[in-house]
Amino acid sequence: MWNCALRADDLPSVSHWKTVTIGREEVIVTRTRTVSIKAYFNVCAHRGMRVCTTGEGKSRTLQCGYHAWTYALEGDLVAAPNLTSMPDVDRSRYGLRPVHVREWLGYVWICVAEEPPSFDDTVLGEVRTRFGQVESIDNYGIESLRRGETKTYDVAANWKLIIENFMECYHCATIHPELTEVIPEFADGLASQRKNGEVHGSNFGEDIGGFTVDGSASGFEELPSIAPAQDRKYYAITVKPHVFINTVPDHVIIKGWFPSPSRARSSSATGCSCLRWWRGPTPGSWTSPRPSSSSTASTSRTSTPVSSPSPRCPPRPTR
Ligand code: FES
Ligand SMILES: [Fe+2]
Repeated sequence: MWNCALRADDLPSVSHWKTVTIGREEVIVTRTRTVSIKAYFNVCAHRGMRVCTTGEGKSRTLQCGYHAWTYALEGDLVAAPNLTSMPDVDRSRYGLRPVHVREWLGYVWICVAEEPPSFDDTVLGEVRTRFGQVESIDNYGIESLRRGETKTYDVAANWKLIIENFMECYHCATIHPELTEVIPEFADGLASQRKNGEVHGSNFGEDIGGFTVDGSASGFEELPSIAPAQDRKYYAITVKPHVFINTVPDHVIIKGWFPSPSRARSSSATGCSCLRWWRGPTPGSWTSPRPSSSSTASTSRTSTPVSSPSPRCPPRPTR
């Protein structure tokens, strides 16, 4: 599956990197000089230690803290202690293991599977299902919007329940009276994104000025490229497994739900980042929960273990 990992401009310049958690995997995402954004399992090719032990940084190389194997941001192993005295070690075989990356809507999307599913069929397919065509979401120019507000929630619940809850509106009239004032059709219990097989945006109520809690105008300009049919309408897309995209005429809300690995063993906890984008100042900051342990639970294997990297340093056993 493709996962929305972070906003591309969270890596504002070359040599920035961040670690993100995708399921049980931790992934390094970095902006390189030569290939734009790349991503790797945060697993040293030597003996499997976590290479980056902090959430983010800026550096020309990535160095593992255990035996100082050093990787270029393009993933190649570029240095290791005593490497010249280990002629049997083929450096080209011990780079960081890459992860599939796509950029879309100004976000970095990651798939940790060896063979990723088609991005077009899956992620863009969700947009086609909701909007009829991918081009309709381009009208909002999400790549060029600025971050207006970020909210992070830590929810002690199975993340799938939150996805499920979001996709139904049977609870809207009881739980969200403000919302049903703004979007009256939600009071009927149907969060319909398609009606009778047709693309369907939900109309704002007659006296409603904007998609705000009290229905007053937001004060933001309407996004310049939206189609007449998108005016005064709310659309929602669920991009499985964990992203919601909501569009209204003057801003966009993107929500991502990240299962919390630290709690997943005992119960089920969920972190969420909710980002609201509009044309204007007030950029906030992206936050997302991540584990703090320095070990790794990755299922990613390192490359084939080094036959004899150092007399003091036996290779990582195979599994
Ligand atoms: S250098 Fe990373 S585990 Fe040895
Ligand atoms: Fe709700």
